[in-house]
Amino acid sequence: MKRKSGFIILFIICAAAGFYLFNSAPKQSTGTGGVTFSHYVHTKQHNIKCKTCHQNVETEERAGIPTIETCSLCHSEIINPNSAEEKKITEYVTNNKPLLWLNYYTVPDYVYFSHRRHVKIGKLDCALCHGDMTEQKSKELNNYKPILMATCFDCHKQRNITTDCGNCHH
Ligand code: HEC
Ligand code: HEC
Ligand code: HEC
Ligand code: HEC
Ligand code: HEC
Repeated sequence: MKRKSGFIILFIICAAAGFYLFNSAPKQSTGTGGVTFSHYVHTKQHNIKCKTCHQNVETEERAGIPTIETCSLCHSEIINPNSAEEKKITEYVTNNKPLLWLNYYTVPDYVYFSHRRHVKIGKLDCALCHGDMTEQKSKELNNYKPILMATCFDCHKQRNITTDCGNCHH
């Protein structure tokens, strides 16, 4: 009982903090850069798998946003000499310059979420939570789907997965 009320008080505090943190998305990640990244070109036109770039998506909590090392797997040489955008990324790779991406999808620290659990064990499709990323043509995610507690809750209820508070909160 004592533990439970402590938990609820902690929530109220975290909730206020979390509200501001969560609603200030997108956040910036590492480096600097001005390359336009297209999911459409990579995943739809060239059939590259999500986990080629989001390398931890089946093994860890965070999927991971790729760094310049990942791009260098394919862009150390020009693939299509007519593409100005591709020329830019090849220059970044050659000079090993870091890239700057925005991080739209985050949950507050008091929420526990694991990609491995949902993608590898639960076998859920990325699109259920992120929409159809294969249509994204720029790094501004125009199909960004906010991650709300209600979204987590609804799916868990539908699929008979526990909705105990302590399951997602710690
Ligand atoms: C060739 C590398 C590459 C592949 C393949 C790739 N991505 Fe990405 N992804 C990126 C990069 C770079 C970013 C950051 C820039 C951006 O948001 O466009 C990103 C960002 C994202 C984000 C937004 C993350 C955030 O918090 O802002 C999601 C969601 C995502 N990818 C899902 C997918 C899915 C689903 C697939 C497969 C259908 C996929 N990606 C395939 C490179 C890739
Ligand atoms: C598995 C191989 C692979 C990886 C990894 C990869 N790319 Fe590509 N990329 C391609 C291919 C194939 C094309 C298409 C070439 C063409 O026809 O222009 C391409 C094209 C591009 C273009 C030009 C097309 C456009 O959008 O106009 C950019 C920019 C680009 N990639 C950025 C990146 C970045 C940034 C990363 C790292 C986050 C990355 N790529 C990782 C294979 C890859
Ligand atoms: C059940 C919902 C769900 C599914 C399915 C899902 N994601 Fe996510 N994704 C999230 C949530 C929630 C976050 C925020 C996680 C955090 O802040 O720890 C996120 C964040 C991300 C990010 C940004 C930062 C990071 O490192 O985690 C990327 C990239 C991403 N997801 C890619 C993918 C890819 C690729 C797939 C499919 C292979 C996928 N996700 C499947 C819910 C999901
Ligand atoms: C589209 C459906 C869906 C959504 C959305 C979803 N989940 Fe899940 N979740 C599942 C499934 C299915 C499992 C069970 C995976 C397995 O173990 O087979 C699961 C399992 C879990 C578990 C482990 C449960 C246990 O038994 O210990 C946690 C924690 C969890 N989810 C948190 C979250 C959080 C936090 C969110 C929102 C950010 C979320 N989930 C959104 C479908 C979903
Ligand atoms: C399936 C996962 C899941 C379960 C179960 C869950 N939550 Fe949440 N909760 C979340 C996520 C994700 C967020 C952050 C996103 C948001 O604010 O909607 C959140 C946010 C919150 C917040 C902050 C809300 C705000 O507006 O800032 C409170 C308070 C909260 N949860 C309380 C609870 C309580 C109490 C329970 C048990 C009845 C519970 N949660 C069960 C996933 C879950």
